Amino acid sequence: MSAPDLSVDLADLRLDNPIATASGCFASGREMDRFVDVGSIGAVVVKSLTKAPRKGLPTPRMVETPSGMLNAIGLQNPGVDAWLEEDLPWLVEHGATTVVSVAGDTVDDFAHVARRLRGVEGVDAIEVNLSCPNVEHRGLVFALDPAASAELIRAVARVADVPVLAKLSADASDVVAVASAVVEAGADGLTLINTILGMAIDPVTGRAELANTYGGLSGPAIRPVAVRVVHQVHSALPEVPIVGCGGVRTVEDVVQFLRAGASAVAVGTGGFVDPFATETLRDGLAAWLTEHRYASVRDIIGTVRTGQDA
Ligand SMILES: Cc1cc2nc3c(=O)[nH]c(=O)nc-3n(C[C@H](O)[C@H](O)[C@H](O)COP(=O)(O)O)c2cc1C
Repeated sequence: MSAPDLSVDLADLRLDNPIATASGCFASGREMDRFVDVGSIGAVVVKSLTKAPRKGLPTPRMVETPSGMLNAIGLQNPGVDAWLEEDLPWLVEHGATTVVSVAGDTVDDFAHVARRLRGVEGVDAIEVNLSCPNVEHRGLVFALDPAASAELIRAVARVADVPVLAKLSADASDVVAVASAVVEAGADGLTLINTILGMAIDPVTGRAELANTYGGLSGPAIRPVAVRVVHQVHSALPEVPIVGCGGVRTVEDVVQFLRAGASAVAVGTGGFVDPFATETLRDGLAAWLTEHRYASVRDIIGTVRTGQDA
């Protein structure tokens, strides 16, 4: 049997393989150059970029938790203009497929960043980080509210000239409602999920361990939640491409996400534990498909069997 076909489609964007990096866990790519060839990664999703540079939140900003970690980095980034000048050329030169994550405090902030990305060579897609507080709406996180999420995606999709992925949160009480709203508003695909809000307390000092009190939980601890969300959303919106994200460490984890309905997966915290993860998972997935006699990775997308149809 010849090598399996690993290519997948995310709306109009074809990826050579379905293993991507998750935003915020790979910086702008250059830092990982000595471990992996960025051109061989399915897609490099860069750290969320804002209109102006941000220093991020005070430390401590990371805490280890069972099978995961909490972080409250606070969108530290150089700002979209500096990134376009200093980081994107390196990614282009190294043949990366680049997905640019955008963030902001207001709908206009997001639209500003998306406008700066228009017509720029090397920007292959935009991912909208909806897990940002909406300062015009009492600081309520966009991703928790279908109407606020739709308004934001509409504003970005209006100015974008590449596919727009909406990155949603499992903290929303009805994530399928948010997914439907953003697709209706113009999202071409979805990234599921961002971190889940959590908290850790030092029992002796009684202090919250993160300077920000709350932070985002990531790693294997959240994987079953992420797989559930991918399955729920894929069941409701089977035509919409999904990037599954949350706790991916092994090839079997990748296969779970694909069977749940994801067309690609993004590796976040797993890359801190194993900086070679994207390559290991890509090669391991090819071996898994060969062993199980699948000619293409697309043959397993959405093939989960559940109680109703087992
Ligand atoms: C240190 C750190 C920084 C992150 N920064 C961002 C970010 O800037 N934008 C974003 O959309 N998600 C960010 N995330 C969330 C990840 O992209 C991912 O959705 C989440 O960590 C779940 O995947 P994982 O369990 O594989 O890490 C960050 C996660 C971590 C751990």
